[in-house]
Amino acid sequence: MIGIDAISLYTPRYMLKLEELAKSRGIDPAKYTVGLGQFAMSIMPPAEDIVTMAASAALPLIKDRKPPSLLLFATESGVDHSKAAGIWVHKLLNLPSSCRVLEIKQACYSATGALQLAIPYVKANPTEEVLIIASDNARYGIGTAGEPTQGCGAAAFIVKANPHLIAIEEGSGLFTDHVMDFWRPNHLDTALVDGKYSARIYLTALEACWKEYAAKTGRSFEDHARFCYHLPFSKMAEKAHERLSKHANTHDLVAHSLLYTKEIGNSYSASLYFGLASLLENDKEDLSNKRIGLFSYGSGCVAEFFSGIVQPSYRKTLRQDAHQTLFSARKEISCPEYEAYFRECGNQNKEEFDPSECQTGAFRLAGIQKYIRDYQPLA
Ligand code: HMG
Repeated sequence: MIGIDAISLYTPRYMLKLEELAKSRGIDPAKYTVGLGQFAMSIMPPAEDIVTMAASAALPLIKDRKPPSLLLFATESGVDHSKAAGIWVHKLLNLPSSCRVLEIKQACYSATGALQLAIPYVKANPTEEVLIIASDNARYGIGTAGEPTQGCGAAAFIVKANPHLIAIEEGSGLFTDHVMDFWRPNHLDTALVDGKYSARIYLTALEACWKEYAAKTGRSFEDHARFCYHLPFSKMAEKAHERLSKHANTHDLVAHSLLYTKEIGNSYSASLYFGLASLLENDKEDLSNKRIGLFSYGSGCVAEFFSGIVQPSYRKTLRQDAHQTLFSARKEISCPEYEAYFRECGNQNKEEFDPSECQTGAFRLAGIQKYIRDYQPLA
């Protein structure tokens, strides 16, 4: 039995309410709060990026456990074409030099890809542990249709044998196709997207994955106690669930997985794992030994439907107090303040960068000189 032992989430210290964004854009706030099902989005300040978020998410997980022998960093917001972002995290967390580090990319699917590669690795090395960190900053641009579906965050999780949280089952349904629904050319720091087409492809991929998963495993919808879907915005998962269930009144099977994303926004590769943590930390029902269906979608596209069995000890490893304190302690900022941070973060790949004063988690991007990034633990 191999799976996820524990999950730790991180999101930056600033957030923008979507009602405030709607007012500034002259849009009915209900379009965002009802139409997209989103209330707020985390805002990246200039002294944070995918590395600081990743290290802050992973820090509580690596304490008091044997170091991982493999660190897989899943992201589509890479800060270097060559050097893996995980190497900075490896340094910040003082991991041993014997730990192998790689960056993995396929849009929002990459953390699930990393998980599926980690499972056979642990099977072959049953005493080893793998640290997977998904960390992303979703940027579409000021005034674009994608703007209310931005957000940022990191999810770190340990994959090992005899996990305490969820054991991943064999048998999944996959769907890969060359589609241009969402992409980000190398020179751009915001994504390009054909929004409505991307939502259609997401649902097409879900149906194809489910069909293959059901045929391979012989399982039906009713064999799953709960469902978690990739979460670009919460309404997308509700639509996906409606499509899969073909039943009325199954909203409670997905509702708890949506809570964190409604407040954080899209965290791309991390978002399915924000959903899983949100479900396990907020659903009052005892989910021990219950099967969760998981759908991962990464534009471009690769998608997978797979499943896991929640472990009897799962509640002992949850970090809901830390997560909920982090989310509720975020500072609400105004739309002009968000726009200023957004523009300043657009300079994070310049030759020289000196971030303005802002709050961070346990680590900060102290600056960039001659294209060399300097990260520091918070004093
Ligand atoms: P839009 O075109 O501005 O919005 O962009 P809309 O006109 O489609 O309206 C959105 C919803 O609000 C609609 O609901 C409206 O009816 C409703 P629907 O008909 O779809 O059920 N609405 C209202 N509801 C209540 N009161 C009102 C009101 N007005 C309208 N007054 C879109 C929306 C999501 C397309 C845009 O934000 C976007 O392009 N976002 C980015 C792309 C995205 O998130 N795609 C999701 C699937 S692809 C994916 O998940 C992968 C991804 O995570 C990337 C990766 O893999 O790396 C994105």
